[in-house]
Amino acid sequence: MNIPPIRIAPSLLAADFGRLEAEVQAVEAAGADWLHVDVMDGHFVPNLTIGPPVVKRIHAAASVPLDVHIMISNPTDFAATYVKAGARTVTFHAEVDEDPTTIIDSIEEAGGKAAMAVNPDTPLDRVRPHLGRLSMVLVMSVFPGFGGQKFMREVLPKLTELREAGYQGDLEIDGGIGPATIEEAARAGANVFVAGTAIFAADDLSQRITELRELAAGVAA
Ligand code: DX5
Ligand code: ZN
Repeated sequence: MNIPPIRIAPSLLAADFGRLEAEVQAVEAAGADWLHVDVMDGHFVPNLTIGPPVVKRIHAAASVPLDVHIMISNPTDFAATYVKAGARTVTFHAEVDEDPTTIIDSIEEAGGKAAMAVNPDTPLDRVRPHLGRLSMVLVMSVFPGFGGQKFMREVLPKLTELREAGYQGDLEIDGGIGPATIEEAARAGANVFVAGTAIFAADDLSQRITELRELAAGVAA
């Protein structure tokens, strides 16, 4: 099977928002493949972060693709806005009470790539019918809302199930990923690894990103 390349995607949620441009540049220089941007609405999740104007500034400061994870109840209204703000991929949640086809259409019409996320207790059923149009599936390994939570390894069978069903697109895992957990996530089938705390709390960003990449690659090899 053709598994797409390993991507390390630092989550800017763990960055210092007061020096966002410098943080973006530092993590890129340290080897980030993508930048993961967490958008929260205080409704779908019990936390509130950033919106389109800040994504626009991150895009202006960044040279790698923006992977924008929208934890919001109404992606139909906002998904395209994030593409226009500079997202290459917009990942919306399978749990929202809106039609995935309409959301995917709006992302694609705006020129972006669509992805769908599933919470730890959400089965893959709502994602499966759309796999052919998704550039990525995100399997959450924590309940979304906050960085620094404990990795939930019980979600890993979802990754394996998708790979065994022949899914060859990007498969992302988000939540509690670090040197102690990345190998099992890679073994289960993930190729895109989001890490907030594990990267931004490291003394040496470059060393940490290299370590994560090598651990994931060691499993894939
Ligand atoms: C959680 C967010 C994650 C978060 C991950 O709701 O979707 O992207 O920033 O943070 P860590 O890597 O610290 O678990
Ligand atoms: Zn995220």
